[in-house]
Amino acid sequence: TPQQFDEKFRPQYHFTPPSNWMNDPNGMVYFEGEYHLFYQYHPDGNTWGPMHWGHAISKDLVSWEHFPIALFPDEHGTIFSGSAVIDHQNTSGLGSVENPPMVAIFTYHDAEGEKAGRKDFQIQGIAFSLDKGRTWEKYESNPVLSNPGIIDFRDPKVIWHEESSMWVMSLAVKDKISFYTSSNLIEWIYQSDFNPVWAAYGGVWECPDLFPLKTAEGEEKWVLLVSINPGGPNGGSATQYFVGDFDGEVFRSETTVTKWIDYGADNYAGVTWSDIPEEDGRRLFLGWMSNWLYAQEVPTEEWRSAMTLPRSLELQQHGTDFNLASRPVAELKKLRSKSMEVTGELINLDSDLLEIGLESLGGDFEMVFSNNEGDNLLITKVGDEISIDRSQSGLVDFSDQFPAVHRIPLLGIQVKDIRIFLDRSSIEIFINDGESVITELIFPTSAYTVLSLQGIDPKVQIHHLKSIWGK
Ligand code: FRU
Repeated sequence: TPQQFDEKFRPQYHFTPPSNWMNDPNGMVYFEGEYHLFYQYHPDGNTWGPMHWGHAISKDLVSWEHFPIALFPDEHGTIFSGSAVIDHQNTSGLGSVENPPMVAIFTYHDAEGEKAGRKDFQIQGIAFSLDKGRTWEKYESNPVLSNPGIIDFRDPKVIWHEESSMWVMSLAVKDKISFYTSSNLIEWIYQSDFNPVWAAYGGVWECPDLFPLKTAEGEEKWVLLVSINPGGPNGGSATQYFVGDFDGEVFRSETTVTKWIDYGADNYAGVTWSDIPEEDGRRLFLGWMSNWLYAQEVPTEEWRSAMTLPRSLELQQHGTDFNLASRPVAELKKLRSKSMEVTGELINLDSDLLEIGLESLGGDFEMVFSNNEGDNLLITKVGDEISIDRSQSGLVDFSDQFPAVHRIPLLGIQVKDIRIFLDRSSIEIFINDGESVITELIFPTSAYTVLSLQGIDPKVQIHHLKSIWGK
């Protein structure tokens, strides 16, 4: 089938696969001017199936070029989620110091083994590329980490731990995170588990990510992301995080309540890029913009699923507490074309690719996006809570789980400004430059044409955004 990129609901400035099914972002790594994005991909159907790693490259995090599938299933199984690193010192011996290998560390899922009733059907393997991710070779002696007999044993995220000069792998093991270390990406030694009693355990733990991050005051902390499914604050899939310390072997959380990276229903399995140059210094994040509750039923055929906008994670300290903010990356400003400033209660929208900035907000308010078909998307702030009602936002009846009112606790955050990114089938709401974030899928039967604001008369900035698919 021809790839049009302008089918109904096809996101115009979010990453989508050329066709068929996509879930988690994988192996995100920066190398020689290129941001690599691999992703869970089923090339032969528009629902989840035997997993491959799809591949795309961006030079600016804004426009993406599609590349051939990087990793195919083999005799060990299909290719589940994982990460990629640049092995600069050639610790693995798979390349050279002059041409360091790009190494992917992933889970093999052996569906036959699972059917046969075995418990050890998820193991960890590696593959490498010596040509900037263009072609890949599997390591000849996979697996590099076999399974002790645990049904959920997956999603390795590997980092280079500077202080101990070791590789550290975070692995989701049923409902805990296990840490392993290695000097060469091939032999892995178990170190510790993380599973505090107070964390969220509504479902299985998946897709961990562990990384250091400095607060604005310059204090370095370690952040651990853990996706869980189900058990999210608004149902189904969501990503919790912990802030604490890591000594190369053990992670200790200083936060002692469950925190969510995004309170919307549609940001899952997100992790961060490896190897962002020090002079850039950002911790760049991307999530899968869907939810396992209905991901396979959303009303698109040609392709299914998109990624969130890329975000820069920032650690904010409030006394002894921490908040992980997600800011849309500055590069996204490139997407702006026509811009205007308006005030008033009714704002006409003449595009569905918009960035809308609301400034000088104070108290409670209601915002409604609507069109002539009777679709309404309601965003309401009352006191310390924002609610988003998508029950009449457009097509909603493809799943019982989709139409809903989602509640977002503000946890004391005073809403001063909001930036909203609207694409054909999503809305992302960044409060106070990402102090709190809400990502939601929507499928309006036709583009929203009016934004009405009640209870506020803020300064509104409207930026029309360009499509990245180059029409
Ligand atoms: C998360 C997840 C991962 C797994 C992958 C399979 O969405 O379930 O744990 O590796 O998807 O596609």
